[in-house]
Amino acid sequence: MTTFVPKSPYQNNFIWLWNVYRNSMQDESTLVYVNGQLLPRDKATVSVYDAGFLSGDGIFEGLRIYNSKIFRLSEHIKRFLDNARVLEFAPKYTFDDVRDAIRKVVEANGHLGVNYLRLQMSRGVTKSPAMDPTYSLFSPTVVIYPEIKEPIYDKKGIRLMTSHIRRIPPDALDQKIHTFNKMNSLLAKLESNRYGLDDAIMLDKEGFVAETSTANIFFVKGDTISTSFPNACLNGITRQTILAETPKLGYKAVEKNHSLFDVYTSDEIFLTGTVGEIAPVIEVDGRKIGSGTVGEVSKNVSNRYMKIVNEQGEVP
Ligand SMILES: Cc1ncc(COP(=O)(O)O)c(C=O)c1O
Repeated sequence: MTTFVPKSPYQNNFIWLWNVYRNSMQDESTLVYVNGQLLPRDKATVSVYDAGFLSGDGIFEGLRIYNSKIFRLSEHIKRFLDNARVLEFAPKYTFDDVRDAIRKVVEANGHLGVNYLRLQMSRGVTKSPAMDPTYSLFSPTVVIYPEIKEPIYDKKGIRLMTSHIRRIPPDALDQKIHTFNKMNSLLAKLESNRYGLDDAIMLDKEGFVAETSTANIFFVKGDTISTSFPNACLNGITRQTILAETPKLGYKAVEKNHSLFDVYTSDEIFLTGTVGEIAPVIEVDGRKIGSGTVGEVSKNVSNRYMKIVNEQGEVP
C-alpha cells in the first residue's frame, strides 16, 4: 500500500516524518468499522454517492483511549447522537448501538496500540448528486477509524497567527453542530501552514476570539483562566473538563469575550481538544506570549488533565 506523507506543519520535520512513517506502518494492520463490518484499511470504502462525500453532510467525534479506556466516552456518544438528531439522520441510532460499535473496534484493534478513534456518520447513500436530503436512500453511513495518533501539537509550545477568515456566527450555522464540513477552518489552517505556523486563531464576526481551526483556546491572566463563550466555537468536551477542573487547582475559570488586546497581553495561552490535549501557545502573530516559554499555569493544567484522563476513562 502506498502511504501518503503529508507536508509537515511542524518545525521539526524529522520527528514529524518519523512519526508519520511509524504510525502508518502500524495503521496498515488496523481494522476499520464500516456499517457493521471490520475491514482492512485498503478495503474500507464508502460509496461515491455518499452524502458525506457529495455535500459534507455528516458529523464526527474524536475519542482518545488511555489505558484501554476512553475518556468521556458517554459525553462523546451523547454529543454524536444529539448532532445526528439535529441533522435528522434516520433511522436513529441508540447510545448502545454506538457504544457496541466502538467496543467492536477497540476489541479488534486494541492490541495494536490504537489510542485514538475517529467516529463519523453521514446521511448515507443518495440516489444522485444533489444538496437534497430527501435523496438519501438507506441508513446513515457509519465509519470508525482506529488510529495510533500522537497529540497533534508540540507540548513544548506552539506558534499561532490570527487568520483573516472569520468563524461562522450561530445565526448562519449553529457551531454546536460538530460537522466535518468546516471549509472556513480548513482555509484558516492552510493559511497558518503557509507561514510555517502550527495553527490559526479565528475571530467571530464581532472580532472576538472564537477558537483555532481545530481546538478551543484558553487565556491566563493572574489567577484567572478564561475562554470564549461557546457561540462561534464548539463547546469542546476538553473545554468543559478544563472549566470544571481548574477551580480545583485554585484558579478562577470564566467564559468571556477576548479581543486581540487580551490575546497579546495574556500571561499564558493554551489550546484544548481531544486530539491535541493541552497545548501551550508561546507566540501569536510574531509576539511572544508572556515569557515566550511554557508557563507554570499551562503546565499545572496539563498535568491535571493527564492525571484525570488516565483515571477517569470508561470501558466501552
Ligand atoms: C472546531 C473544533 N473545536 C474544538 C474541538 C475540541 O473538542 P473536544 O474537546 O470535544 O475534542 C474540536 C474537536 O473536534 C473541533 O473540531
